[in-house]
Amino acid sequence: MSTAVQVLVLYYSRGGSTQQLADAIANGIEKAGAEAMMRTVASDDEAASARDLIVANEDLQQCDALVLGSPTRFGHMASGLQRFWETTSRDWLKGVLVDKPAAVFTSSSSMHGGQESTLLSMMVPLLHHGMMVLGIPYTEPELQQTESGGSPYGASHVEHAAGPRLSRHELTLAEQLGYRVARAAQRYSKENAS
Ligand SMILES: Cc1cc2nc3c(=O)[nH]c(=O)nc-3n(C[C@H](O)[C@H](O)[C@H](O)COP(=O)(O)O)c2cc1C
Repeated sequence: MSTAVQVLVLYYSRGGSTQQLADAIANGIEKAGAEAMMRTVASDDEAASARDLIVANEDLQQCDALVLGSPTRFGHMASGLQRFWETTSRDWLKGVLVDKPAAVFTSSSSMHGGQESTLLSMMVPLLHHGMMVLGIPYTEPELQQTESGGSPYGASHVEHAAGPRLSRHELTLAEQLGYRVARAAQRYSKENAS
C-alpha cells in the first residue's frame, strides 16, 4: 500500500473547465510526490462528466488534505457539492477533517461574474470542518501577470478572457496550489508522526 500523502481533489464540472483546473491541481500534487484522489459528485444534469469516482464519506477520513472545485453558479458553488457537504455531519462530529490543509478553485464564464464570492463561500464548510485553508501567495509571479483567472483566494479560470483552455498563468497557478497543499500535508503529517 502507498505511504504517500493523499490529497482529495473533489470537484464538479459540467462543461470541462473546472475539470481542467482539477487536472492541473493534480499535476501539482503529484510533483510534490503526493497522490491525487480525484472525486466528483452525482449531478442533476445529464451532461456532467463522470470520469472520476463519485465521492464517498470515507474519502474524507482517508485523505490528508482536500482541494474543492466548482463552477461559479450565481456566485456560489454548484448545488451537488453543497448537497454533499450536507451529508457530512457525522464526519464533522468526529472531526475527521480537523487540521487537514485545504484550498478551493472555480471556473466562470465572465471576469467579474462572482469568482471571488464563490471561492470565499466554498471555504466556509471547510472552516466549519476545522480545515487549514490555504490560498495563493503573491510570491507566485503569475498572480501579478494573469489577465484572466488566478486569485489569492484560489485557482481559477475565466472562459471569456482565457478561452476554452486554461491560460498558461491559470495553469501554473493551479499547479502551484496543488503543490502547496500537498507540501503542507506532507509537513504536517511528518510533524504528527514524530
Ligand atoms: C446555472 C448556472 C449559473 C452560472 N452562474 C455564473 C455566474 O454567476 N457567473 C459566471 O461568470 N458564470 C456563471 N455560469 C457559467 C459557468 O460558471 C462557466 O461556464 C464555468 O466555466 C463552467 O464550468 P464547467 O465547464 O466546469 O462546468 C453559470 C452557469 C450555469 C449553468
